[in-house]
Amino acid sequence: MQRQITVRDLWNKKRRGEKAVLITAYDYSFAWWEDRAGVDIILVGDSLGMTVLGHPYTLSVSLEEMLNHTAAVSKAVSRAMVIGDMPFLTYQGSIREAVINAGRFLQVGASAVKIEGGKEMAETIAKVISAGIPVMGHIGLTPQSVHKYGGYRIRGKTEQEAREILEDACAVASAGVFAIIVESVVSELTQQIVEAVSVPVYGIGAGPHCDGQIIVCYDILGLYPDFTPSFAKVYFDMGKKIEEVVSEYAKEVREGIFPSKRYYTSKGDKK
Ligand code: KIV
Repeated sequence: MQRQITVRDLWNKKRRGEKAVLITAYDYSFAWWEDRAGVDIILVGDSLGMTVLGHPYTLSVSLEEMLNHTAAVSKAVSRAMVIGDMPFLTYQGSIREAVINAGRFLQVGASAVKIEGGKEMAETIAKVISAGIPVMGHIGLTPQSVHKYGGYRIRGKTEQEAREILEDACAVASAGVFAIIVESVVSELTQQIVEAVSVPVYGIGAGPHCDGQIIVCYDILGLYPDFTPSFAKVYFDMGKKIEEVVSEYAKEVREGIFPSKRYYTSKGDKK
């Protein structure tokens, strides 16, 4: 059986100058195919609150929902590292709560958790790591703070904002994260972050200067109907394909074409 990717493999990849491939998954089947495609990390992102559960933001996702989806993904994966995304209000209230809630992700099969936030989360991140739980940082545009930023806008355009985000990167790196996700920041800032920290930096809407890229699987497959971020390339319009296939199925049912003899059994059949 194939060995699962560890934080050491990710550090070695960075050392060799190889790009890491990260993608989200929320269920068994998606995770199974993505793992087979050879990705390095599968993140069970709280973006599932929007893509799968239909909430307008990620803020309504519960810990139990995240754990259920993380368990399903973990069952499908044999090679990629599985990371569980800690949802809103499961780590900000107290350090004790953060450690216990983070630990639950490992109990359902993840090998690490992701925590949004910069300097303000550094102490919490350090405590979670000291409990033996690897943490991936997430800075720049942090969707759980969407209301604080007044929307999903690109960050780091002003000198002050860029300085703050760079400080966030250094703070979470010093707290011990094994890698950092940088979301929706100008590419020059990403480059500065990559130069400033020693851990791998993975980008989403953050340009090409990263040690790897992460993307929401529903975005590259054209599956989320509400919007597609400008940084997401739609490789295949699966949403349209689903519409086409289900329309064909509906037509065949209505016209009595499906099920044809191949798809049902009669008493005298030998199968
Ligand atoms: O929840 C998520 O999918 C994420 C990625 C966008 C990084 O946090």
